[in-house]
Amino acid sequence: MSILVYMVIISSIAIAENQNQFVYNGFHGSNLHLNGIAKIHPNGLLELTNTSYQQIGRAFFPFPIKFNTSSFSTTFVFAIVPKLPKLGGHGITFTISPSIEFFNRALANQYLGLFNITSNGHPTNRVFAIELDTMKNPEFEDIDDNHVGIDINSLQSYVSAPASYYSDKEKENKALRLLSGKPVQLWIDYDERDMLLNVTMAPFGTQKPWLPLLSTNLNLSMSGSMHVGFSASTGSVPSDQYILGWSFNKSGQSQSLDYAKLPPPPPPRSRPRAKPDFRVAVPSVISCLLVITFIGTAYKMWIRRYEEIREDWEHEYGPHRFSYKDLYNATKGFKGRELLGIGGFGEVYKGVLPSSNEQVAIKRVSHSSKLGMKEFIAEIATMGRLRHRNLVQLLGYCRRKGELLLVYDFMANGSLDTFLFTNEKMNLNWSKELKSLKEWLHHLFTSMKIGNKL
Ligand SMILES: *[C@@H]1O[C@H](CO)[C@@H](O)[C@H](O)[C@H]1NC(C)=O
Ligand SMILES: *[C@@H]1O[C@H](CO)[C@@H](O)[C@H](O)[C@H]1NC(C)=O
Ligand SMILES: *[C@@H]1O[C@H](CO)[C@@H](O)[C@H](O)[C@H]1NC(C)=O
Ligand SMILES: *[C@@H]1O[C@H](CO)[C@@H](O)[C@H](O)[C@H]1NC(C)=O
Ligand SMILES: *[C@@H]1O[C@H](CO)[C@@H](O)[C@H](O)[C@H]1NC(C)=O
Ligand SMILES: *[C@@H]1O[C@H](CO)[C@@H](O)[C@H](O)[C@H]1NC(C)=O
Repeated sequence: MSILVYMVIISSIAIAENQNQFVYNGFHGSNLHLNGIAKIHPNGLLELTNTSYQQIGRAFFPFPIKFNTSSFSTTFVFAIVPKLPKLGGHGITFTISPSIEFFNRALANQYLGLFNITSNGHPTNRVFAIELDTMKNPEFEDIDDNHVGIDINSLQSYVSAPASYYSDKEKENKALRLLSGKPVQLWIDYDERDMLLNVTMAPFGTQKPWLPLLSTNLNLSMSGSMHVGFSASTGSVPSDQYILGWSFNKSGQSQSLDYAKLPPPPPPRSRPRAKPDFRVAVPSVISCLLVITFIGTAYKMWIRRYEEIREDWEHEYGPHRFSYKDLYNATKGFKGRELLGIGGFGEVYKGVLPSSNEQVAIKRVSHSSKLGMKEFIAEIATMGRLRHRNLVQLLGYCRRKGELLLVYDFMANGSLDTFLFTNEKMNLNWSKELKSLKEWLHHLFTSMKIGNKL
């Protein structure tokens, strides 16, 4: 019994030692070593990640490859379908490394499931990777959010380029969107004698362009057993990341993929709807929109009736802050009948505060222009300084979008008119209006509090 098990193990290792090349036209029934959230769909699609956040998915060829030369060639077809239109993360890598366990402590997000903060950039890693990166990470000096990079022990790419391909037909470079959701083919070829690494890319179905995207001189001395496979990660903006087919040869040209046998590409995230009958649809859609717009506008107006602007710093002035609803009710909705007059910079209404039955004068200052705000500050500043028994007293204020409301004691005698309707311009030089307003309110209300106590 134990001898039989032993023999089975021996034979599988023997198979492993003969693995110089392999080709997966789809992964149905394959024995890939899967890691993280990677899974194989029944149709043969290898899903490295789905749209779960901050996840890692890896898939390795099940046996280590014994490199006796460093020349190798591989090609694969991938597709990245972002969760949000045009925004997805983080990318797929093809990787060669001495151990799979090395990746156990690696991170998702920008680390692509390859490294962590301490291991990134360490010369002992012996990790080679080609990254298909859909995020721009400044800490790794990424050039953009759509690039292909050659990574040696580090996510700070040795060399990288925006995703594109050379069109043999049009004789020019064409941009390619990694997040397009469409299948794309990548070829990685390393020639040991020339020490030249080529990375070539093209939309699926296009012939391998004769001009690579990246072609760089490198000494990749890969001796001993190495694991080959893929690692992909998601972050706070995820993508479905797939491999459709993969071919590898450790010592020469990799076999071509059989396109007809590959699984169908993943469906786009939002399927186009069936065409509606316009003769019926257009009028009913328009009338629906009109009704919705009308209800929406009416609701907005209802909600905004009493809308105010309040900022955190105003909390400490609590008792001096009036609610717009109270002022609205006090003046019966700022009715013309309650209008005392239109003066220097605003209309003045007479009102009765609902809470205290106190008679007040409410000055409405429009500050749609910067001038309005400046004058408001001037007004408050003046009131704070010139508080006197014979002058009207500022009780408080309220702020709304484009509007300031100042609440005064109502006085039937002349001081009201003379003071409220005089536009007492002060030569104020306010650099930052709101900051100054805040300071002046602070001064003003501090003095008012003291005044009340005395
Ligand atoms: C992604 O896959 C994992 C593991 O299979 C699963 O738990 C999770 O619910 C999936 N998430 C989505 C968004 O499908
Ligand atoms: C590499 O090893 C394979 C067998 O594993 C052998 O067939 C091949 O000749 C070797 N190549 C070199 C360059 O040593
Ligand atoms: C980072 O990864 C390396 C290699 O797997 C591991 O030795 C190390 O403990 C990890 N560091 C952290 C902080 O997880
Ligand atoms: C890499 O690309 C260059 C330039 O196109 C080409 O001459 C060379 O043969 C290529 N090498 C490999 C290993 O594909
Ligand atoms: C390539 O790197 C290996 C290992 O570091 C070294 O032994 C070899 O001499 C290098 N080859 C060249 C041409 O520099
Ligand atoms: C892999 O490369 C070797 C060496 O060049 C070659 O003999 C072999 O035919 C290649 N395998 C395939 C499947 O093309």
